[in-house]
Amino acid sequence: MSGMKKVFVTRNIPDRGLTVLREKGYEVDVSTKDGVLTRPELLSALRAKPYDAVLCLLTDHIDREVFEAAPTAKIFANYAVGFDNINVEDAKAHGVTITNTPGVLTDSVAEHTFALMMALMHRIVESDQYIRSGKYEGWAPMLLLGLDMKGKILGILGAGRIGHTVAHHACHGFGMRVLYYDVKRNEELERDMDARFCSTIEEVLKEADVVSLHVPLLPSTKHLINAETLRLMKPTAYLVNTSRGAVIDEEALVQALQKGIIKGAALDVFENEPRLTPGLAELLNVVLTPHTASATEETRAAMSALAAENIIAFFEEKTPPNAIA
Ligand code: GLV
Ligand code: GLV
Repeated sequence: MSGMKKVFVTRNIPDRGLTVLREKGYEVDVSTKDGVLTRPELLSALRAKPYDAVLCLLTDHIDREVFEAAPTAKIFANYAVGFDNINVEDAKAHGVTITNTPGVLTDSVAEHTFALMMALMHRIVESDQYIRSGKYEGWAPMLLLGLDMKGKILGILGAGRIGHTVAHHACHGFGMRVLYYDVKRNEELERDMDARFCSTIEEVLKEADVVSLHVPLLPSTKHLINAETLRLMKPTAYLVNTSRGAVIDEEALVQALQKGIIKGAALDVFENEPRLTPGLAELLNVVLTPHTASATEETRAAMSALAAENIIAFFEEKTPPNAIA
């Protein structure tokens, strides 16, 4: 065996994958900081040893400077399905393989999307606050009326794995009708969920009662939801985002919510995480979760295992299952 492989993990994650890496005989160093490494901290941690692999998180910005600090690390395994935190061009230029963790988090994220949608439409968070603040004086016919999901039109932007599963639950679980837009058509969605393909985003926004975002963050999807596109939505419509914060122009959203241009929003991701646009947290027609859509015990363990599997496959065969670059 030619030298023990060295893996750096930028923050503590569930044990499952780390155990697998250690069982392979690799030396696994996990950052001991209980938080995101700053750029200087990340660079100096990587310079400490000739690492062969890095397991990084979506909160780490990975680019040329990072690759230069770790010239021996030819794989960066991202502990996320989204990889907008990584400059893929820089990775290619440095001959670095990038992997992500698709598939294992699809069900959790789809469930969380529904948790948000239901919380919003049935006003769960508002109701909880209402009771806890001592306002509840008994049943009343007009108290905290929400809206049914059944029969409503769900508009999905981005029909990848997650959008697909959300469409499935909407159709088969809640009796919603599904519209979708994607850069490519998804025949299975149309056949199995009776989903209607829209050739433009505008068409989805105009017709949907709930719009759910499942696109990756790309130059072409940044601020896809902005002042102009929000005005296309019905004043009775809701917006749900479990993709990436910057898909929405958050300032425009706050204004739209304040002015009643749309009825409400449920957000798991934010444009400048962890900072929120002023005004957002004061709105009652908003439900917020701290980027936890994939945060279940099962899924986070599976993500840990999959990131490890990618590193092992890279070392053993050079062809990790989830290479994206
Ligand atoms: C979470 O946001 C992920 O991309 O996995
Ligand atoms: C992510 O897994 C997606 O394809 O939606």
